[in-house]
Amino acid sequence: MEELARLLDRPGHGRIVLFPRRPGEHGRPNAKDRDISTISDNHKAALTRIEAELERLIGGAGLGGDLSAGLREAMAYAVLGGGKRLRPLLVWLACEAVGGDAGKCLPAAAAVEFVHAFSLVHDDLPAMDDDDLRRGRPTLHVHTNEAMAILAGDALLNLAFAALLESDASDSARVALVQELTRGCAGMISGQVYDTMPGLDPEPDDRRRLERIHVNKTGALIRASARMGAICGGANTEQLEALTAYADAVGHMFQAVDDLLDVEQSAEQIGKRTGKDAQAGKLTYPGLLGVDGTRAEVARLLGEAERAIAVLDERGATLGSIARQMALRDR
Ligand code: IPE
Ligand code: IPE
Ligand code: MG
Ligand code: MG
Ligand code: MG
Repeated sequence: MEELARLLDRPGHGRIVLFPRRPGEHGRPNAKDRDISTISDNHKAALTRIEAELERLIGGAGLGGDLSAGLREAMAYAVLGGGKRLRPLLVWLACEAVGGDAGKCLPAAAAVEFVHAFSLVHDDLPAMDDDDLRRGRPTLHVHTNEAMAILAGDALLNLAFAALLESDASDSARVALVQELTRGCAGMISGQVYDTMPGLDPEPDDRRRLERIHVNKTGALIRASARMGAICGGANTEQLEALTAYADAVGHMFQAVDDLLDVEQSAEQIGKRTGKDAQAGKLTYPGLLGVDGTRAEVARLLGEAERAIAVLDERGATLGSIARQMALRDR
């Protein structure tokens, strides 16, 4: 732990203390670094516009046809009921980091959040993780019923691609956005298979299996977010590669922290049930490496993310700060 703390002493950022600390440990991390809500403070304007775009698209005619009002309500419940909005924020920040006009990436940002919301709704179903609490409220299948949760998830995935059609990016950029989101979804879905059906696609050892789960179920959409922002901003090859490497480290790290939260936090704090991974026999970082080993892995991945964006100019600095907040988050 001391070695880790030393590694995390870095000029310019103060001492970064990896979340989460165990109750009773003395000293607290800088509250501003640790609290994800500071993202909301720092990027309030972006988050306000993202929220408005989500509402606009949920309420709009993007899906055409005779959309059931009950279905639309279920979709709104899944999307508009809170959430950190990290993925759309990454789309926005990646676009800005390459010098783009972030306002133009809003449909792409919303599209990624729709896929994320769909993934959560299905993740919570009895056939998957069987959870009854999400974002501090009953999960969608508890609030409505299982059939509606399945169908609302399907519709959200469809709405994501409809949102990309509303983007005023060039035709070639829109094709690239569709390709990125398709790959992100496929990775996420495969990751869910690796997570919930161990042994179906065997790996030689648990460490490699764990990495494959995390980089897919969570990393793939985070990678898509950064790359979609980069595409909207007209990134060159070097910028796109840097953002991809950054997102790969952040995505992997984000799920490792999620696993820590499941072990160390309360449902009240994180808005979802805790202690579930071990109960379900899931392969997780804390399960495999212990809590301290997981923190060391989070620190390593954070370093990887920070190094990846070093080639970007100062406009990329916010991405470093959001990666640190993701490492330190407590919900
Ligand atoms: C939870 O994602 C599921 C994972 C992929 C780890 P978030 O922690 O981003 O959930 P919300 O959107 O803030 O609710
Ligand atoms: C889910 O991972 C990742 C998704 C693709 C939704 P988890 O099952 O760990 O996510 P939570 O903890 O329920 O949010
Ligand atoms: Mg799950
Ligand atoms: Mg789950
Ligand atoms: Mg989890």
